Amino acid sequence: MDKVFNTPLAHLLGALLVLLAPIFLQGVEGTIGVNYGTVADDLPPPVQVASFLRDSTFIRRVRLFDANPEILKAFARTGISVTVNVPNDLIPQLTMLSFAQQWVEINVLPYVPATNIVRILVGNEVISTANKLLIVSLVPAMETLQAALVEKSLDRHIRISTPHFLGILSNSSPPSTGKFRPGYDIHVLKPLLEFLRATNSPFMINPYPFFDSSDNTLDYALFRPNPGVFDETTQLTYTNMLDAQLDAVFSALKLLDFEDIEIVIAETGWPSRGDPGQAGVDTGIAAEYNKKLIQHVMSGIGTPLMPNRTFETYIFALFNEDLKPGPTCERNFGLFKPDMTPVYDIGIVHPRVANAAANTDHSHTNSRTNLLLLLLVCLMCF
Ligand SMILES: *[C@@H]1O[C@H](CO)[C@@H](O)[C@H](O)[C@H]1NC(C)=O
Repeated sequence: MDKVFNTPLAHLLGALLVLLAPIFLQGVEGTIGVNYGTVADDLPPPVQVASFLRDSTFIRRVRLFDANPEILKAFARTGISVTVNVPNDLIPQLTMLSFAQQWVEINVLPYVPATNIVRILVGNEVISTANKLLIVSLVPAMETLQAALVEKSLDRHIRISTPHFLGILSNSSPPSTGKFRPGYDIHVLKPLLEFLRATNSPFMINPYPFFDSSDNTLDYALFRPNPGVFDETTQLTYTNMLDAQLDAVFSALKLLDFEDIEIVIAETGWPSRGDPGQAGVDTGIAAEYNKKLIQHVMSGIGTPLMPNRTFETYIFALFNEDLKPGPTCERNFGLFKPDMTPVYDIGIVHPRVANAAANTDHSHTNSRTNLLLLLLVCLMCF
């Protein structure tokens, strides 16, 4: 046996496998991101976080809830795609071009292109605030920010969107009846969708089966075997809650004639710890949801109304955040503890990547480096 594995051919094949692995993992890298929330007093320095993500995980997308300069600098030359966020309270001012220009000058220009900023989110779940000024300013703010990006020729690389809670739907069950809340549909969502279509940006939503499930629907929320939910209108059966939520959004988009707009999952997740006696919350269940979530959104199966699609998905969250208010679960959505050990394992930390990182620089030049190495290996063998 030893002899076979020691032949040059075996070495070549082994080297080939190692070198080609990144190609097969590309799917994960393009699809799965994390929300890097920082409501905590015990998180590691951003530089450490950025190199940890780059060298030891498959995650190649992060979303920030602000435009923290230290974090933006930390992700420079990592190749990781970064999404930044304008906080809700700046939205009214952002409708003024001078303010939008200034925001871009302070929060974007100093960091690009070294930091791969690919998206700016204007606010978060703005409609959930019920704040009229914020809501009426949302689309004008996005348009003004877009104008500021165009002036700096940043609009080809950086797209603008805004994430929504599912409360924007007045109807969601069964999924074919999904529609946006009356009033908001025409006055906010329609102009928003027109903007997204014109700028080739996705519609972003924050679906949380965790918050919508009870003891009875836990299996449905967790992608476990269950009787499913039948939609009479479409004659389609839903076997998991996420599909039903995505298709309710799709139906609402379709009703306004925007079914061509890409849907991105800006946040979803499951806590690993809850208050005493809280059902459906532990590390095993959190791991189960996030693992099956990744498999499902990457599989290319899609949903009953959107077959054969993958969904760019950002897991909430990168870290447990000890300063978040509210029930215990709010502080325990993290994939990692502050010391960067996994809270549970869902296969996003890769030992091979961790090892390889010690020897090679994982940047955009990676595939070229791999090709050169491959050539070198071939030369050595023959
Ligand atoms: C989805 O993929 C299946 C299998 O490849 C194919 O039969 C079907 O036509 C596709 N559907 C759409 C809407 O592309």
